[in-house]
Amino acid sequence: MKPGYRAIYAQYRESITQGLLKPGDKVPSVRVLASELGVARKTVETAWSILVGEGFLVSDGARGTRVNPELVLSPATRKSREKTAPRPVAVCGDAERKQAAFLRLGIPALDAFPGKKWLLLSAKAVRALPPSEMLTPPLMGYAPLRDAIAHYLNISRGLACAPEQVVITGGYQHNMRLILTLLAGGGQKVVFEEPGYFLGQRILQHTLQQLHRVPVDNDGLDVNYLLRHHNDAHLIFVTPSHQSPLAVTLSLPRRQQLLAWATQHNRWIVEDDYDGEFHYTRKVVPALKSLDSDDRVIYMGTFSKTMLPALRTSYLVLPRALLAQFRQMAELTESGQPLLTQKILAAFLSEGHFYKHLKRMRNLYSTRRGFVLAALAQIYPQIFDVEVRNGGMHIIAFLRASTQDVALAQLWHRHQLQVSPLSEWYSGNARRYGLIIGYTNVASAEEAIALLQRPAQETQALLTDGSRQAAEE
Ligand SMILES: Cc1ncc(COP(=O)(O)O)c(C=O)c1O
Repeated sequence: MKPGYRAIYAQYRESITQGLLKPGDKVPSVRVLASELGVARKTVETAWSILVGEGFLVSDGARGTRVNPELVLSPATRKSREKTAPRPVAVCGDAERKQAAFLRLGIPALDAFPGKKWLLLSAKAVRALPPSEMLTPPLMGYAPLRDAIAHYLNISRGLACAPEQVVITGGYQHNMRLILTLLAGGGQKVVFEEPGYFLGQRILQHTLQQLHRVPVDNDGLDVNYLLRHHNDAHLIFVTPSHQSPLAVTLSLPRRQQLLAWATQHNRWIVEDDYDGEFHYTRKVVPALKSLDSDDRVIYMGTFSKTMLPALRTSYLVLPRALLAQFRQMAELTESGQPLLTQKILAAFLSEGHFYKHLKRMRNLYSTRRGFVLAALAQIYPQIFDVEVRNGGMHIIAFLRASTQDVALAQLWHRHQLQVSPLSEWYSGNARRYGLIIGYTNVASAEEAIALLQRPAQETQALLTDGSRQAAEE
């Protein structure tokens, strides 16, 4: 079989890291190697461009391509690589990827990042970099990216927003800082979901004198509770598509009730649509903002779930009434987001790759979720109850007869399984208990079984001990 670009890439990378090829050594030209291996020139070119991108090779123009003369490989790296048998190397190292991601919630499939396309678009973006783009990036974001996002949101999330309303930002913390400065700088009352996004509640508790909570049930936020107890709130944060963490969807009557409240009393709603792209049936849930005819919703989106958290690129869609005030604030506090990432993303969206990528990821996640659900049912039939929701990137394995999710999560962490204990996402006493499990990086049914099997005996022992102690008390 003819080698693909990955095999060529892997072989040369291995040769370099093992010291078989030394810094400064020449590698064959694209033409020669392609003819030697009987593959298309494009295949070798792609392998070379990844190795150049990673700094293993440098291209010396007409003089050919060489191993980067400045490459320094620590003796330890070389030694440890020498001990391991050669193996096919994925674009990102498999072992590292898994270590970083085992069952961790809220991260995309790291093995499915479209690295090759990204690399090609990066090269294009750098090549076409006029001097005007080498200066401070635009305050509100790179215009073609704002256009592409507005277009995407129109088509996929049902939002009728204009590019002027889209602001490119640097992730959740940045969004929170901007929104709080804009809308809660004078000590206004702020409400958050209970349970709610772990990081969100910590930021708000740190920033505000008091944070008010509204419970979530199977239909999402309890809007009647909000009207009864916090009718005077100025700002509310919600995750309507897949509530974080319970993954329930805010029902249509409640959406209407929440929007009517905001309109009637001039309140602001922040819709955090962090993973709304991922739904596994045909029933797509449009964003809350798509029903927002009075423009009371500030919409938050992110590329952390669809692409990579490391891009640190997110966006806000601002109501028109807030634009002037936002710009005034931003002129003092902001300096724009890194331009190259925005440029690559703009091309990725406008050339249609983003839509294809999302489609692939939906299929992949639906399959991977199946692996984890089946493994949980097989290994822990008496311990967990799992309520399967339509979308999102995680599941919750509710503990049937125990409240020890914190101890259990610690135990699973000792096996490198980075689950999160549900009870820690609550602030009050009315808690539910379980493990929040990310499935996006579980590559096969066998891997799901092998991972979940790791802590099986100790889990049984911990929960049996716990229930014995409870019975004795
Ligand atoms: C509820 C929620 N909102 C927003 C985000 C996005 O955060 P960021 O864009 O900083 O990666 C996340 C990511 O984990 C999340 O879980």
